[in-house]
Amino acid sequence: MVKPKVYVTRMIPQAGLDMVRTFCETDVWEEETPPPREVLLQKVQGIDGLLALLTDTIDAALMDAAGPQLRVISNYAVGYDNVDVAAATVRGILVTNTPGVLTDTTADFAFTLLMAAARRVVEGMDYIRAGKWLTWGPTLLLGQDIHHATLGIIGMGRIGSGMARRAQGFEMRVLYYDPYCRKEKGEEVGAECVDLDTLLAESDFVSVHVPLTPETYHMLGAEQFRKMKPSAILINTARGPIVDSDALYEALKNGEIAYAALDVTEPEPLPADHKLLTLPNIIICPHIASASVITRTKMATMAAENLIAGLKGEMPPYPVNPEVLLHPK
Ligand code: GLV
Ligand code: GLV
Repeated sequence: MVKPKVYVTRMIPQAGLDMVRTFCETDVWEEETPPPREVLLQKVQGIDGLLALLTDTIDAALMDAAGPQLRVISNYAVGYDNVDVAAATVRGILVTNTPGVLTDTTADFAFTLLMAAARRVVEGMDYIRAGKWLTWGPTLLLGQDIHHATLGIIGMGRIGSGMARRAQGFEMRVLYYDPYCRKEKGEEVGAECVDLDTLLAESDFVSVHVPLTPETYHMLGAEQFRKMKPSAILINTARGPIVDSDALYEALKNGEIAYAALDVTEPEPLPADHKLLTLPNIIICPHIASASVITRTKMATMAAENLIAGLKGEMPPYPVNPEVLLHPK
């Protein structure tokens, strides 16, 4: 039997690559940075399946460059804003993602950022490294309490719910706003559904858990920061462009909000000379919320399972556009 041809756009954890290699004729981009656009356009020619990362833009032009035999695009991420799903659906191409396996790991990290910002952990380390630690100080690096504070969750999906469950352990009051109206979800985890303005006005911590879509692009900007408490801390582990970076810079600089802790940025990667990095009241991590050894391996095997099922014409575990198989044209 001829093996299907696939292209994998980066070295993913071995267990996933091994599965792909067993079933497919596999070409892998082995560099640390993503394949340049022209390389990708050339590499996809004639492939049956693509295993892509969130750093790859998978649009109609790329699907057409691949050719009509392309059957499945397996995205190694829960978010799939990098893939033009509508373009894939009209071409009969299945798109898959990796939800579930990274929920708790990502929620752990969002809570890590919340705590690190509230208690100024990174500033503490910088202080010591700078040789400033002379003595114990009564007012040294005073932060904000986490316990009994109000957490506002924007987007009560899997990860938002995970965040709410964690907050219960700290006896926080949890508010949420969900643009997709997933009401029961919040009640299950002891969170109260409110409108966005109420959430912004009442929360000590605002944590973002919506996908990036045209509706959520710059959902948090100057107007929203003005509605937040001057002591508020913003946490973003979803996608950078949900928050307007320029407006965030101004809000942090002018004290409209107190602090931000970001795992995702606009732009991404954030250049080392970006103005956000000049602020003292920010923590930024290089998009690592799902980056635990176990979770990244599970994502790799799930992405491989999705890819292989799609190539066999079977319903994959996590289809984004199952209608491609349910209602083939
Ligand atoms: C990471 O950001 C993902 O969407 O999996
Ligand atoms: C993503 O997995 C979400 O639903 O929060």
